[in-house]
Amino acid sequence: MPQLPPGIRRALRQKALAASRRLSTGPEWERHVRHELDLLAPGEAWREAVTEGYHRLYYESGEAGGTWKDTRFLGVTTWKVPLDLWVYQELLAELRPGLIVETGTAHGGSALYLATLCEAIGRGQVVSVDIGHWPDRPAHPRLTYLTASSTDPEVVAQVAERAQGAGTVLVVLDSDHSRDHVLAELRAYAPMVTPGSYLVVEDTNVNGHPVYEAFGPGPMEAVQDFLKERDDFEVDRSREKFLFTFNPGGWLRRRG
Ligand SMILES: C[S@@+](CC[C@H](N)C(=O)[O-])C[C@H]1O[C@@H](n2cnc3c(N)ncnc32)[C@H](O)[C@@H]1O
Repeated sequence: MPQLPPGIRRALRQKALAASRRLSTGPEWERHVRHELDLLAPGEAWREAVTEGYHRLYYESGEAGGTWKDTRFLGVTTWKVPLDLWVYQELLAELRPGLIVETGTAHGGSALYLATLCEAIGRGQVVSVDIGHWPDRPAHPRLTYLTASSTDPEVVAQVAERAQGAGTVLVVLDSDHSRDHVLAELRAYAPMVTPGSYLVVEDTNVNGHPVYEAFGPGPMEAVQDFLKERDDFEVDRSREKFLFTFNPGGWLRRRG
C-alpha cells in the first residue's frame, strides 16, 4: 500500500486513538484499531523510495570521490559496495569454487578480496583479466593477473583451459560496462560456469536502474538479451537480500 501523506496519517492515528478510548477494550476495539493502524503501515512504495533514495545517494557520492570510490580492502582500492562483498563471501563459503574468474581488475581490491577469502576457506584460485596496466597491484599466492581484453579469444581460451577440471567455477564480469561488451563476455564466459554456481554481472544499476540515467545500454540490457538466448541461467533475487546492490538482477545462477 502506498505511504499516506503525513497529515492524513496524523489524522488517522488520532481517530484510531479516540476510537480506542471510546470503545475502551474487547474484540470490537481490537478490530477497529487494527484496521486503522493497517492504514498507517509503511508499504511497498515506501520501501522502494527509501532503497532507491539510498542507492542514488551512495552512488552519486561515489562519483564525487566518496563512498564506493573511496572503499579499500586491506588498503587496496575496491570499487564495490561492502554489502555486495558480503554476498560474495557467502557465495564462496557455500560453493567453495576451485576457480573464480574476474574481468576488470582496476586496482586489484576485489581480486585481493576474493583471493583472501579463498585462502580463508582453504580452496580456490582467482584469475583477474584487465586490458589496462595498473601499477602496484597486490600480489597473492592464489591470484593471477592477465593483461588483455576479456573478450580476446586467446584469453578466453586460456581461462577456459584453467576452468577445465577446476571443480566449481564462479565468474564475475566487471570490465567495460557497455551492453555489447558485457553481452560478448556473457557469451564467452557463461559456458565455464558450473551448474549451481554463479555468473555475476556487476553494475546492472547504471542506465537508470536506478542510477546514471545517461549511461546508455549497459550491463542490465546485456543480461536481458542474454536471458533471451538461453534458459539455463536464472536471476537469483535472494542475493539482493540487503535491499541495495550495485547488481540488481545481475546475480545469475546456473540451473542444475
Ligand atoms: C569497474 S573497474 C573494475 C573494478 C574492480 N573489479 C573492483 O571491484 O575494484 C573496470 C576495469 O575494467 C577494465 N577494462 C575495460 N575494458 C576492458 C576490457 N575490454 N577487457 C578487460 N578489462 C577491461 C578497466 O581497465 C578497469 O580497470
